[in-house]
Amino acid sequence: MRNKARVAILISGTGSNMAALLYASRAPDSPYEVVLVTGDNPDAPGLVLADAEGVPVARFPAPTKATRPDFFAALDRALHEAEADTVALAGFMRILPADFVGAWSGKLLNIHPSLLPKYKGLDTHARALEAGDNHGGCSVHLVTPEVDAGEVLGQVPVAILPGDTPDTLADRVKIAEHQLYPRILAGYVSRYQDAAWIEAQVDALTSRLPEVTRKTSHGSPGWQVGGEKSGKLFAILADRHHGEDAIGLLVKASGPDEMTGLIEAQPEAYYWPKYYGASGWLGVKLNRRDLDWSQVADWLERSWRASAPARLTKLMRAADEF
Ligand code: GRF
Repeated sequence: MRNKARVAILISGTGSNMAALLYASRAPDSPYEVVLVTGDNPDAPGLVLADAEGVPVARFPAPTKATRPDFFAALDRALHEAEADTVALAGFMRILPADFVGAWSGKLLNIHPSLLPKYKGLDTHARALEAGDNHGGCSVHLVTPEVDAGEVLGQVPVAILPGDTPDTLADRVKIAEHQLYPRILAGYVSRYQDAAWIEAQVDALTSRLPEVTRKTSHGSPGWQVGGEKSGKLFAILADRHHGEDAIGLLVKASGPDEMTGLIEAQPEAYYWPKYYGASGWLGVKLNRRDLDWSQVADWLERSWRASAPARLTKLMRAADEF
């Protein structure tokens, strides 16, 4: 597995946030590295800085209305060629097409100079001043097809001073931006190691299955099917149990042969959990940057089916036939 997240940064202009992200990444303990700086403006001053800092840069001709689809297709290719796994928008002044956002969903972050949900769009500082707010600020958020509307990952309020103009306020907000963005990006790309975040993902996946309730198993979060009292456990979250490295999802496999086969073939993905392995529980490693959560969903469904009472599995089988 790659050690660090691979971040591409998209800019249109100065690139001061790009610089903040880049210099933060130069700390040895940074969980991400910057693998590409690019954007929609081949003359953006930020690209010159990225060049000078030895970061790969891709320059594209500024797109026109007619060339917009080609631009985004070329951008997508460049991101894949750089093997970027995360894209940070930093003063990138184009609205992204919905299919591009869909393809990079959950991997696209943006910084916006207001305390969202206030003042989406442009002229945020002027609008905060006009409204007589006592604070402006900045937000880092996930990008969704609706502009400036994705989940907010972090914010910093910035006091408005008497006599502030949009420019003086923007200058101070930028100081806050430069602190906020690297910190939030670092946390975001590290969340795959965070047991609470992992548990929330498993919770969301199990909640799609019928008759699932939470049940603690020897102090670990577990999920059971088939009623509060008579239910059967089908998944357990084992957070580095007994000195193991894995935050693992324990699910029911068909038996020891399947388990040893999977573990031998894909030791990065599966393990034999101490104690639980002997009772037929397979360990699926969840604290992996490149984890495919759709496979986790498949395991949960399979384990659910193996544990659910016949009245429920019959319903599922009937649904499968449609
Ligand atoms: C920043 O204020 C950022 O919040 C907004 O665009 C500006 C970019 O500035 N999205 P810079 O190019 O990073 O200096």
